[in-house]
Amino acid sequence: MVLRKEDLPMVSNAIMNALHEDELEIINELHQACQEGNADVVDQLLQLLIQDIEDHFTTEEELMREAEFFAYPMHKAEHDSMRKRIGELLERWRKHKEPKEVQKFIEEELVSWLLLHIARWDATTAEAV
Ligand SMILES: [Fe+2]
Ligand SMILES: [Fe+2]
Repeated sequence: MVLRKEDLPMVSNAIMNALHEDELEIINELHQACQEGNADVVDQLLQLLIQDIEDHFTTEEELMREAEFFAYPMHKAEHDSMRKRIGELLERWRKHKEPKEVQKFIEEELVSWLLLHIARWDATTAEAV
């Protein structure tokens, strides 16, 4: 398990917490498939993770727009930077099909990004939407 539920910061919005918990499960499953070197499962779970991330980001962006939240452009820019990184990861995956690359991305980039993003951006946003 690369990300424990206890380590996930809770925010004051139930929809956002549910999105984060769903994502945590997919990240852990994908990380395990990477450790096992199961390329077919990695392939399926990576696509699932990308869909999930898009759903997560889009939902938060809709909440912010509805609430006319002042920091929407900054928060969305943070999402866009991760959309770009995950897009690059998918490209590398399609070329090399190397589970270790995906594992490294999760361990060295995604988990720390997510924890910091939730604490820094989602927590403040949750108070305002
Ligand atoms: Fe979030
Ligand atoms: Fe966010």
